[in-house]
Amino acid sequence: MRIDVITIFPPLLAGAFEHSIIKRARDGGIVDIQIHDLREYTDDRHRTVDDSPYGGGAGMVMKPEPWFRAVESLRPQGNPGHVVLLTPQGRRLEQRLVQEMAAEERLIILCGRYEGVDERIREHLVDDEVSIGDYILSGGEPAAAVLVDAVVRLQPGALGSSHSVVEESFSDGLLEYPQYTRPPEFRGWRVPEILLSGDHGAVERWRREQQIERTRTRRPDLLLTGDDVSETTS
Ligand code: ADE
Repeated sequence: MRIDVITIFPPLLAGAFEHSIIKRARDGGIVDIQIHDLREYTDDRHRTVDDSPYGGGAGMVMKPEPWFRAVESLRPQGNPGHVVLLTPQGRRLEQRLVQEMAAEERLIILCGRYEGVDERIREHLVDDEVSIGDYILSGGEPAAAVLVDAVVRLQPGALGSSHSVVEESFSDGLLEYPQYTRPPEFRGWRVPEILLSGDHGAVERWRREQQIERTRTRRPDLLLTGDDVSETTS
């Protein structure tokens, strides 16, 4: 998979893609991630990317020309990519939408600044708008880091084994069960005896019960929607 990210702050994102699972996926050729500086696509001495809004008002609006120039110059013949603008006005990011994005051959991600982008970018350049939640960030960069991380870990081979994806929270619509490791007792708090019993069937049943109970108390909305996004995971 190929992912291009266009931003006015490349260093904000570079570090996010140089560690852990994303680094391994890049090194292993599973994903090719390129970060591009929007200012490289300006044509004036000051490398201007924004201007004051028509009609007045506070804040600045990102100009259309650099965005169109950037996206058009990144597109090789034949593979236009799916162009995604990160914005609080977008579709809310959930695992199902991550799966949809992960199935694309190429994503071109635009990090807008919060005050806004010229509407013609939305109308004529962007295929999709995504929000990572109902809160306001200063710009799309942290949202791009979230989207890329969630998408890359779904690429075949990105994780040690596909098993871990299948067992994760949300892959079956439930939260995860509690996990413990050594020591069996820490400051007087003991690991549940059943996990030390060696009875695999009992452990599995206990874990399932814990998942259901945890989901019921913390995220009852997940049980109500009956969402099962597991079929398309792994
Ligand atoms: N830009 C600013 N806030 C955002 C959010 N919540 N999601 C995606 N992009 C954003």
